[in-house]
Amino acid sequence: MSKIKRIGVLTSGGDAPGMNAAIRAVTRTAIYNGLEVIGIRHGYQGMINGYFKLMKTFHVSDIIQRGGTILKTARCEEFKTTEGRKQAYESLRDRNIDGVVVIGGDGSFTGARIFNEEYNIPFIGIPGTIDNDIYGTDYTIGYDTALNTVIEAVDKIRDTASAHNRLFFIEVMGAEAGFIAVRSGIACGAEAIIIPEVKDQVNNLHAYLEEGYKRKKSSNIIIVAERAYPGGAFGVAEAVKKDFTDYSMRVTVLGHIQRGGSPSAFDRFTASRLGFAAVDALLDDQKSAMVGLQNNEISLVPFSKAVKLHKEVRKDYLEIANILSV
Ligand code: F6P
Repeated sequence: MSKIKRIGVLTSGGDAPGMNAAIRAVTRTAIYNGLEVIGIRHGYQGMINGYFKLMKTFHVSDIIQRGGTILKTARCEEFKTTEGRKQAYESLRDRNIDGVVVIGGDGSFTGARIFNEEYNIPFIGIPGTIDNDIYGTDYTIGYDTALNTVIEAVDKIRDTASAHNRLFFIEVMGAEAGFIAVRSGIACGAEAIIIPEVKDQVNNLHAYLEEGYKRKKSSNIIIVAERAYPGGAFGVAEAVKKDFTDYSMRVTVLGHIQRGGSPSAFDRFTASRLGFAAVDALLDDQKSAMVGLQNNEISLVPFSKAVKLHKEVRKDYLEIANILSV
Protein backbone atom coordinates (compact mmCIF):
# COMPACT_ATOMS: atom_id res chain seq x y z
CA MET A 1 0.00 0.00 0.00
CA SER A 2 1.52 3.32 -1.07
CA LYS A 3 2.03 6.02 1.54
CA ILE A 4 1.03 8.72 -0.94
CA LYS A 5 -2.05 10.62 0.21
CA ARG A 6 -1.83 13.99 -1.50
CA ILE A 7 -0.29 14.85 -4.86
CA GLY A 8 0.47 18.07 -6.66
CA VAL A 9 0.08 18.66 -10.39
CA LEU A 10 1.61 21.44 -12.45
CA THR A 11 2.30 22.48 -16.03
CA SER A 12 5.68 23.95 -16.88
CA GLY A 13 7.51 25.44 -19.88
CA GLY A 14 5.73 26.23 -23.14
CA ASP A 15 2.04 25.36 -23.06
CA ALA A 16 0.78 22.65 -25.41
CA PRO A 17 -2.73 21.65 -26.51
CA GLY A 18 -3.77 18.65 -24.43
CA MET A 19 -2.21 19.83 -21.16
CA ASN A 20 -5.70 20.42 -19.79
CA ALA A 21 -6.73 16.90 -20.75
CA ALA A 22 -3.70 15.63 -18.81
CA ILE A 23 -4.55 17.75 -15.74
CA ARG A 24 -8.07 16.35 -15.87
CA ALA A 25 -6.83 12.77 -16.11
CA VAL A 26 -4.35 13.20 -13.24
CA THR A 27 -6.95 14.86 -11.02
CA ARG A 28 -9.70 12.35 -11.62
CA THR A 29 -7.46 9.29 -11.44
CA ALA A 30 -6.02 10.50 -8.15
CA ILE A 31 -9.44 11.24 -6.67
CA TYR A 32 -10.68 7.84 -7.84
CA ASN A 33 -7.78 6.31 -5.87
CA GLY A 34 -8.69 8.24 -2.71
CA LEU A 35 -5.92 10.86 -3.02
CA GLU A 36 -6.18 14.59 -2.60
CA VAL A 37 -4.99 16.73 -5.49
CA ILE A 38 -3.36 20.13 -5.25
CA GLY A 39 -3.14 22.19 -8.43
CA ILE A 40 0.13 24.14 -8.47
CA ARG A 41 -0.31 27.32 -10.51
CA HIS A 42 2.37 28.96 -12.71
CA GLY A 43 4.69 25.94 -12.86
CA TYR A 44 7.71 25.70 -10.57
CA GLN A 45 7.34 29.37 -9.64
CA GLY A 46 4.02 28.48 -8.04
CA MET A 47 5.67 25.59 -6.22
CA ILE A 48 8.25 28.01 -4.77
CA ASN A 49 5.69 30.67 -3.90
CA GLY A 50 2.96 28.31 -2.70
CA TYR A 51 0.34 29.07 -5.36
CA PHE A 52 -1.68 26.00 -4.42
CA LYS A 53 -5.30 25.14 -5.00
CA LEU A 54 -7.24 22.08 -3.85
CA MET A 55 -8.66 20.40 -6.95
CA LYS A 56 -12.04 18.71 -6.96
CA THR A 57 -13.56 16.70 -9.78
CA PHE A 58 -15.65 19.66 -10.95
CA HIS A 59 -12.58 21.90 -11.27
CA VAL A 60 -11.54 19.86 -14.30
CA SER A 61 -14.98 19.71 -15.92
CA ASP A 62 -15.31 21.15 -19.39
CA ILE A 63 -11.56 21.50 -20.00
CA ILE A 64 -10.65 18.43 -22.07
CA GLN A 65 -11.36 20.38 -25.26
CA ARG A 66 -9.52 23.56 -24.28
CA GLY A 67 -6.02 24.63 -25.32
CA GLY A 68 -3.60 26.38 -22.95
CA THR A 69 -3.52 25.24 -19.33
CA ILE A 70 -5.95 26.08 -16.54
CA LEU A 71 -3.02 25.90 -14.09
CA LYS A 72 -1.00 28.46 -16.09
CA THR A 73 2.62 27.81 -16.93
CA ALA A 74 6.00 29.49 -16.71
CA ARG A 75 9.67 29.00 -17.43
CA CYS A 76 11.16 29.38 -13.96
CA GLU A 77 14.77 30.53 -13.46
CA GLU A 78 14.52 30.33 -9.67
CA PHE A 79 13.95 26.57 -9.68
CA LYS A 80 17.36 26.21 -11.35
CA THR A 81 18.97 27.44 -8.12
CA THR A 82 19.62 25.42 -4.95
CA GLU A 83 17.80 28.03 -2.89
CA GLY A 84 14.77 27.99 -5.20
CA ARG A 85 14.46 24.20 -5.00
CA LYS A 86 14.82 24.34 -1.21
CA GLN A 87 11.92 26.80 -1.02
CA ALA A 88 9.90 24.59 -3.34
CA TYR A 89 10.56 21.59 -1.11
CA GLU A 90 9.50 23.52 1.97
CA SER A 91 6.27 24.64 0.28
CA LEU A 92 5.44 21.07 -0.69
CA ARG A 93 6.29 19.74 2.77
CA ASP A 94 4.20 22.46 4.50
CA ARG A 95 1.19 21.39 2.43
CA ASN A 96 1.85 17.67 3.02
CA ILE A 97 2.26 17.03 -0.69
CA ASP A 98 3.98 13.68 -1.06
CA GLY A 99 4.18 13.28 -4.83
CA VAL A 100 4.11 15.59 -7.87
CA VAL A 101 3.12 15.18 -11.51
CA VAL A 102 4.95 17.59 -13.81
CA ILE A 103 3.51 18.13 -17.29
CA GLY A 104 6.14 19.76 -19.49
CA GLY A 105 9.20 19.41 -21.69
CA ASP A 106 12.85 18.54 -21.18
CA GLY A 107 13.68 21.75 -19.26
CA SER A 108 10.93 20.91 -16.77
CA PHE A 109 12.19 17.34 -16.43
CA THR A 110 15.76 18.51 -15.88
CA GLY A 111 14.52 20.51 -12.88
CA ALA A 112 12.49 17.54 -11.66
CA ARG A 113 15.48 15.21 -11.94
CA ILE A 114 17.73 17.50 -9.91
CA PHE A 115 14.99 18.01 -7.31
CA ASN A 116 14.60 14.25 -6.93
CA GLU A 117 18.34 13.87 -6.34
CA GLU A 118 18.09 16.39 -3.49
CA TYR A 119 14.70 15.67 -1.93
CA ASN A 120 12.59 12.60 -1.37
CA ILE A 121 9.26 13.81 -2.72
CA PRO A 122 8.77 11.74 -5.90
CA PHE A 123 8.18 13.51 -9.21
CA ILE A 124 6.66 11.85 -12.28
CA GLY A 125 6.67 13.61 -15.65
CA ILE A 126 4.19 13.68 -18.52
CA PRO A 127 5.74 14.84 -21.83
CA GLY A 128 3.87 17.96 -22.94
CA THR A 129 5.37 20.10 -25.70
CA ILE A 130 4.49 20.75 -29.31
CA ASP A 131 8.13 20.06 -30.27
CA ASN A 132 8.01 16.24 -29.80
CA ASP A 133 11.70 16.39 -28.90
CA ILE A 134 11.76 14.19 -25.81
CA TYR A 135 13.67 10.93 -25.76
CA GLY A 136 11.70 7.87 -24.58
CA THR A 137 8.31 8.72 -26.01
CA ASP A 138 7.10 8.49 -29.59
CA TYR A 139 4.76 11.45 -29.05
CA THR A 140 4.53 14.41 -26.75
CA ILE A 141 1.19 15.95 -25.89
CA GLY A 142 0.46 18.86 -28.23
CA TYR A 143 2.55 17.69 -31.17
CA ASP A 144 -0.36 16.26 -33.13
CA THR A 145 -2.51 19.36 -32.67
CA ALA A 146 0.38 21.62 -33.69
CA LEU A 147 0.83 19.55 -36.86
CA ASN A 148 -2.84 19.96 -37.70
CA THR A 149 -2.60 23.69 -37.12
CA VAL A 150 0.43 23.91 -39.41
CA ILE A 151 -1.12 21.97 -42.27
CA GLU A 152 -4.33 23.99 -42.09
CA ALA A 153 -2.29 27.20 -42.36
CA VAL A 154 -0.03 25.87 -45.12
CA ASP A 155 -3.01 24.66 -47.17
CA LYS A 156 -4.30 28.22 -47.15
CA ILE A 157 -0.93 29.66 -48.06
CA ARG A 158 -0.67 27.21 -50.94
CA ASP A 159 -3.87 28.62 -52.45
CA THR A 160 -2.36 32.06 -52.67
CA ALA A 161 1.11 30.73 -53.61
CA SER A 162 -0.41 28.92 -56.51
CA ALA A 163 -2.60 31.87 -57.55
CA HIS A 164 0.47 34.12 -57.80
CA ASN A 165 3.07 31.55 -58.90
CA ARG A 166 5.02 32.30 -55.74
CA LEU A 167 7.71 30.70 -53.68
CA PHE A 168 6.82 30.65 -49.98
CA PHE A 169 9.17 30.05 -47.09
CA ILE A 170 7.11 29.03 -44.08
CA GLU A 171 8.73 28.91 -40.67
CA VAL A 172 7.46 26.44 -38.11
CA MET A 173 8.41 25.98 -34.45
CA GLY A 174 10.25 23.02 -32.95
CA ALA A 175 13.05 24.58 -30.88
CA GLU A 176 16.31 22.79 -31.82
CA ALA A 177 14.54 19.93 -33.58
CA GLY A 178 12.82 19.32 -36.90
CA PHE A 179 9.96 17.05 -35.82
CA ILE A 180 7.21 19.55 -36.60
CA ALA A 181 8.86 20.54 -39.88
CA VAL A 182 9.35 17.00 -41.21
CA ARG A 183 5.92 15.62 -40.44
CA SER A 184 3.95 18.74 -41.38
CA GLY A 185 6.10 19.12 -44.50
CA ILE A 186 5.16 15.67 -45.73
CA ALA A 187 1.53 16.12 -44.70
CA CYS A 188 1.12 19.33 -46.68
CA GLY A 189 3.17 18.21 -49.67
CA ALA A 190 5.96 20.76 -49.17
CA GLU A 191 8.49 20.98 -51.98
CA ALA A 192 11.38 21.12 -49.49
CA ILE A 193 11.89 20.80 -45.73
CA ILE A 194 14.81 22.49 -43.99
CA ILE A 195 15.69 21.20 -40.50
CA PRO A 196 18.51 21.83 -38.01
CA GLU A 197 19.60 18.18 -38.02
CA VAL A 198 20.76 18.19 -41.66
CA LYS A 199 23.61 20.34 -42.94
CA ASP A 200 23.89 21.98 -46.35
CA GLN A 201 20.22 21.83 -47.15
CA VAL A 202 20.17 25.44 -48.27
CA ASN A 203 22.88 24.76 -50.87
CA ASN A 204 20.87 21.83 -52.15
CA LEU A 205 17.81 24.03 -52.27
CA HIS A 206 19.50 26.06 -54.99
CA ALA A 207 19.79 22.99 -57.19
CA TYR A 208 16.23 21.94 -56.43
CA LEU A 209 14.78 25.35 -57.24
CA GLU A 210 16.84 25.55 -60.39
CA GLU A 211 15.43 22.27 -61.53
CA GLY A 212 11.84 23.30 -60.69
CA TYR A 213 12.35 26.60 -62.44
CA LYS A 214 13.41 24.86 -65.64
CA ARG A 215 10.35 22.67 -65.45
CA LYS A 216 8.25 25.82 -65.01
CA LYS A 217 7.03 24.73 -61.59
CA SER A 218 4.62 27.47 -60.73
CA SER A 219 4.62 27.52 -56.92
CA ASN A 220 6.72 26.12 -54.11
CA ILE A 221 6.26 25.68 -50.39
CA ILE A 222 9.48 25.43 -48.41
CA ILE A 223 9.02 24.50 -44.74
CA VAL A 224 11.79 25.84 -42.53
CA ALA A 225 12.24 24.74 -38.90
CA GLU A 226 12.84 27.84 -36.78
CA ARG A 227 16.46 27.03 -35.82
CA ALA A 228 17.51 25.35 -39.07
CA TYR A 229 19.32 28.34 -40.50
CA PRO A 230 20.48 31.73 -39.20
CA GLY A 231 17.53 34.07 -39.50
CA GLY A 232 15.03 31.21 -39.86
CA ALA A 233 12.77 31.32 -42.92
CA PHE A 234 13.79 34.92 -43.63
CA GLY A 235 17.44 33.82 -43.61
CA VAL A 236 16.79 31.01 -46.09
CA ALA A 237 14.82 33.34 -48.38
CA GLU A 238 17.66 35.84 -48.26
CA ALA A 239 20.22 33.14 -49.10
CA VAL A 240 18.48 32.03 -52.29
CA LYS A 241 16.97 35.35 -53.36
CA LYS A 242 19.81 36.66 -55.48
CA ASP A 243 19.88 33.54 -57.65
CA PHE A 244 16.16 33.44 -58.30
CA THR A 245 15.17 36.95 -59.16
CA ASP A 246 12.41 35.71 -61.44
CA TYR A 247 10.58 34.07 -58.57
CA SER A 248 8.25 36.15 -56.47
CA MET A 249 8.99 35.18 -52.88
CA ARG A 250 7.21 35.60 -49.56
CA VAL A 251 7.97 34.52 -46.01
CA THR A 252 5.42 33.51 -43.36
CA VAL A 253 6.34 32.80 -39.75
CA LEU A 254 3.53 30.75 -38.23
CA GLY A 255 4.65 31.45 -34.65
CA HIS A 256 2.50 30.91 -31.60
CA ILE A 257 -0.67 29.87 -33.39
CA GLN A 258 1.07 26.48 -33.32
CA ARG A 259 0.79 26.39 -29.54
CA GLY A 260 -2.90 27.20 -29.23
CA GLY A 261 -6.25 25.71 -30.13
CA SER A 262 -8.44 22.84 -29.16
CA PRO A 263 -6.42 19.59 -28.85
CA SER A 264 -6.86 16.90 -31.49
CA ALA A 265 -8.51 13.57 -30.66
CA PHE A 266 -5.06 11.98 -30.56
CA ASP A 267 -3.69 14.51 -28.07
CA ARG A 268 -6.76 14.26 -25.83
CA PHE A 269 -6.59 10.49 -25.85
CA THR A 270 -2.83 10.35 -25.25
CA ALA A 271 -3.04 12.96 -22.48
CA SER A 272 -5.78 10.93 -20.80
CA ARG A 273 -3.70 7.74 -20.95
CA LEU A 274 -0.53 9.41 -19.72
CA GLY A 275 -2.33 11.26 -16.92
CA PHE A 276 -3.80 7.98 -15.72
CA ALA A 277 -0.39 6.28 -15.98
CA ALA A 278 1.40 9.06 -14.08
CA VAL A 279 -0.80 8.62 -11.00
CA ASP A 280 -0.42 4.88 -11.30
CA ALA A 281 3.37 5.31 -11.29
CA LEU A 282 3.28 7.46 -8.14
CA LEU A 283 1.07 4.89 -6.40
CA ASP A 284 3.58 2.28 -7.48
CA ASP A 285 6.29 4.25 -5.61
CA GLN A 286 8.10 5.26 -8.78
CA LYS A 287 10.04 8.51 -8.84
CA SER A 288 12.21 10.64 -11.09
CA ALA A 289 10.75 9.19 -14.27
CA MET A 290 8.53 10.15 -17.18
CA VAL A 291 5.58 8.19 -18.48
CA GLY A 292 5.79 7.97 -22.26
CA LEU A 293 4.24 6.22 -25.21
CA GLN A 294 6.37 3.67 -27.10
CA ASN A 295 4.80 1.59 -29.86
CA ASN A 296 1.43 2.58 -28.43
CA GLU A 297 2.25 1.13 -25.01
CA ILE A 298 2.90 3.13 -21.84
CA SER A 299 6.55 3.19 -20.84
CA LEU A 300 8.35 4.52 -17.77
CA VAL A 301 11.58 6.30 -18.64
CA PRO A 302 13.97 7.67 -15.97
CA PHE A 303 14.37 11.45 -16.19
CA SER A 304 18.12 10.84 -16.46
CA LYS A 305 17.53 9.17 -19.83
CA ALA A 306 14.68 11.38 -21.02
CA VAL A 307 16.71 14.56 -20.62
CA LYS A 308 20.17 13.29 -21.52
CA LEU A 309 19.55 11.09 -24.52
CA HIS A 310 18.78 12.59 -27.86
CA LYS A 311 15.68 11.69 -29.84
CA GLU A 312 16.56 11.51 -33.53
CA VAL A 313 14.41 12.84 -36.32
CA ARG A 314 13.86 10.08 -38.85
CA LYS A 315 15.96 11.00 -41.87
CA ASP A 316 14.17 8.40 -44.02
CA TYR A 317 11.10 10.64 -43.81
CA LEU A 318 13.08 13.34 -45.62
CA GLU A 319 13.78 10.90 -48.40
CA ILE A 320 10.06 10.18 -48.70
CA ALA A 321 9.41 13.93 -48.78
CA ASN A 322 11.95 14.39 -51.57
CA ILE A 323 10.55 11.59 -53.69
CA LEU A 324 6.98 12.77 -53.28
CA SER A 325 7.63 16.43 -53.94
CA VAL A 326 8.79 16.25 -57.55
O1 F6P B 1 8.96 24.50 -26.72
C1 F6P B 1 7.83 25.00 -27.34
C2 F6P B 1 8.16 26.23 -28.14
O2 F6P B 1 6.98 26.70 -28.73
C3 F6P B 1 9.27 26.07 -29.18
O3 F6P B 1 8.80 25.44 -30.35
C4 F6P B 1 9.70 27.50 -29.38
O4 F6P B 1 11.03 27.56 -29.82
C5 F6P B 1 9.55 28.08 -28.00
O5 F6P B 1 8.65 27.26 -27.30
C6 F6P B 1 9.04 29.49 -27.96
O6 F6P B 1 9.04 29.91 -26.64
P1 F6P B 1 8.36 31.22 -26.13
O7 F6P B 1 6.88 31.02 -26.13
O8 F6P B 1 8.89 31.38 -24.75
O9 F6P B 1 8.75 32.32 -27.07
